[in-house]
Amino acid sequence: MDTSTLPKLHENAQDFMPINGTDYLELYVSNSKQAAHFYKTAFGFQSLAYAGLETGLKDRESYVVVQDKIRLVLTSPLKSGTIIGKHIDDHGDGVKVVALWVDDATYAYNTAMEKGAKSYMEPKTEEDAQGTVVRSGIHTYGETVHIFVERKDYNGTFLPGYRKWETPDFNPSSTGLKFVDHMVGNVGWNRMNEWVDFYANVLGFTQILSFDDKDISTDFTALMSKVMSNGNGRIKFPINEPAEGKKKSQVEEYLDFYEGEGIQHIAVATDDIIKTVRELKSRGIEFLKVPDTYYDVVLDRVGKIDEDLAPLKELGILVDRDDEGYLLQIFTRPVEPRPTMFFEIIQRKGAQSFGKGNFKALFEAIEREQELRGTLH
Ligand code: FE2
Repeated sequence: MDTSTLPKLHENAQDFMPINGTDYLELYVSNSKQAAHFYKTAFGFQSLAYAGLETGLKDRESYVVVQDKIRLVLTSPLKSGTIIGKHIDDHGDGVKVVALWVDDATYAYNTAMEKGAKSYMEPKTEEDAQGTVVRSGIHTYGETVHIFVERKDYNGTFLPGYRKWETPDFNPSSTGLKFVDHMVGNVGWNRMNEWVDFYANVLGFTQILSFDDKDISTDFTALMSKVMSNGNGRIKFPINEPAEGKKKSQVEEYLDFYEGEGIQHIAVATDDIIKTVRELKSRGIEFLKVPDTYYDVVLDRVGKIDEDLAPLKELGILVDRDDEGYLLQIFTRPVEPRPTMFFEIIQRKGAQSFGKGNFKALFEAIEREQELRGTLH
């Protein structure tokens, strides 16, 4: 993994849980085959691996797509009455697994369990002609889980049990997405600190940022957020909870529609956000829109940037600056029928923060969408 744009090891972190990076994200979706097609066509992922009836599975089918370091597993049930089907019935399409790449999945599991994690999957060795993988898993907020993946003795395409998925006649080009920058979870009222403590105590993460309801509020809605990061800084999990406002916040809307806590957005990094967003738009991805007046004052706020303002304004890309540099970011509309999960596209130019200066404009844009959905009341 390219670490040049990632923050350095936190000096004071007690890193009893070394994690190399995000291994894969598994989404439970109602139609994995069509979802794979969407992520390929619209987001520029490539076919990678497949498991289902043709590999001996009877109850589910998974398509794995890849773009640079990002691997998405899209899984649907093949019959009624399954755990996966229940998850989809409860939550709609959403992220079930945030898999973490470790050197020792047994050590990671045993350590997490000693420190109070709830088991999802005991360490299990899986094997095929390309070698062995050890996986284990623990629960996090809602029905979301972390799976530890140890793949140092494996040379196969993805995981044992999957076969290579090749689609020589249909491989849309990349849109420049490189790696998962951060993943945000929405948790219930007064639950943020509980999950902050979980990531600190069970996984050895440190809190790198905190936003209270004064930082993150508009005239109508508010939320609070704390950002947890692992020792090498490659995993960053902001955790949001709702705060009191005059109207229902986006976090409450999410909790209502997801029917519980879960992943709110996946932020993916690019080295050229203008090119990436132009490409994504041309393929049908819809983004949140801030008013044009945002651009009247943005440079007064963030100072000089390398990019011309015109394409940023045309595409709706937001800019923010912190002590270390600046960042460019934009948010998609939800990518499933329920107003739940969405994507962020982010390009960091030194800044290691999350766009605090954009929160107000952004949340007002979300409120306009909530208004259209009839959920801002
Ligand atoms: Fe974000």
